[in-house]
Amino acid sequence: MKILKSTLIATTLLMGISCKTSNNHKAQETGLRDAYKNSFHVGTALNRDDILQTDSLRSALIGKEFSSITAENIMKSMFMHPEKDVYQFDMSDKYVEFGEKNNMFIHGHTLIWHSQLAPWMRSISDSTEMAQAMESHIKTIVEKYKGRINSWDVVNEALNEDGTLRNSAFYKTIGSEYLAMAFKWAAETDPNTDLYYNDYNLTNKAKRAGAVKLVKDIQSKGIKIDGVGMQGHWHIDSPSIEEIEESILDYANLGVKVAITELDVSVLPNPWNLVGAEISQNFENNKKLNPYPEALPDSMQVKLAKRYSDIFKVFLKHQDKISRVTFWGTSDKESWLNDFPVRGRTNYPLLFDRELKPKAAYDSILALKK
Ligand code: G3I
Repeated sequence: MKILKSTLIATTLLMGISCKTSNNHKAQETGLRDAYKNSFHVGTALNRDDILQTDSLRSALIGKEFSSITAENIMKSMFMHPEKDVYQFDMSDKYVEFGEKNNMFIHGHTLIWHSQLAPWMRSISDSTEMAQAMESHIKTIVEKYKGRINSWDVVNEALNEDGTLRNSAFYKTIGSEYLAMAFKWAAETDPNTDLYYNDYNLTNKAKRAGAVKLVKDIQSKGIKIDGVGMQGHWHIDSPSIEEIEESILDYANLGVKVAITELDVSVLPNPWNLVGAEISQNFENNKKLNPYPEALPDSMQVKLAKRYSDIFKVFLKHQDKISRVTFWGTSDKESWLNDFPVRGRTNYPLLFDRELKPKAAYDSILALKK
């Protein structure tokens, strides 16, 4: 508490943010959800416990602070479609019910992704068989939640860093056509849900060019694509605000919506200049790589708050182009960044601390709306 208090005072001094004391949490007054309601949805990713509502305080906080939800894991094919003729909708039903109960914008993540792919689908080597598997996967799931899921990540992370197409199970069997096919099947099944291409590092020049080309290819075939999801797994010092802004403009210029879909800001050293969210990489934990095992120092809390404030300023500047900004989780405690790219670190990338208290970063974002 002492740390939080001094952090907020330091933040106030450095940033001119009008917060009085550490316990004067605006979370008790206006939540982000209401503060941003005329700009864009502010969302969070729900893990299993969130969906099962194992913690009522946390459920209430999510309902108050966020107007949109994404399922962090449970809608991925390995969980939802574990065998060719087996679909598991128990968790996704509860997820959608949570969103409806809280009057939220409900996002589906994700239909076609090379990672967390059901093993039966990964093992397909024939193009016709893969196309059939993709079609029934997309159509069954989109149909099941037709009219209830407001937008889908139709294809996730199809690009390499140089902007070429990733050699995924889908690309290997079908070739580049699989992208347009996926969007076509989703659009045919629910013409009223928004269809997104979603990826990380979409601020990087080469990958950005690849994403622009990908969207244009789908559009040139007359197939519906509604948006680009920039995941937003960012770092305390990168990408630059200019790169973020240029990227938003590049995607908006395609005539599609831009969503920030998986926002978090790592404050920990990035070993070997590792960037992005490629989960196949992992490193041994050590002290240098885990500098804040007990608490984040004030100076870093302030830096994080400033970084979030700068990021949200550019989002607000382009709010006419942005449909949604979703954080990749609610509190630092369960963030995937505690285990990536080094297992067992203590990271602080989100707006709420390990006790679910709003951080200076939270106040800095709320202050932009005061
Ligand atoms: O299902 C097992 C469970 O049985 C076991 O008890 C538990 C023990 O660790 O592991 C569970 O699997 C974990 C899974 O999440 C579900 O919780 C995996 O180990 C873990 O690697 C997996 O991580 C997820 C990761 O995607 C997998 O690629 C993260 O939670 C999730 O935040 C992350 O999200 C992705 C987005 O979907 C796409 N963009 C990048 C983003 C970050 O990688």
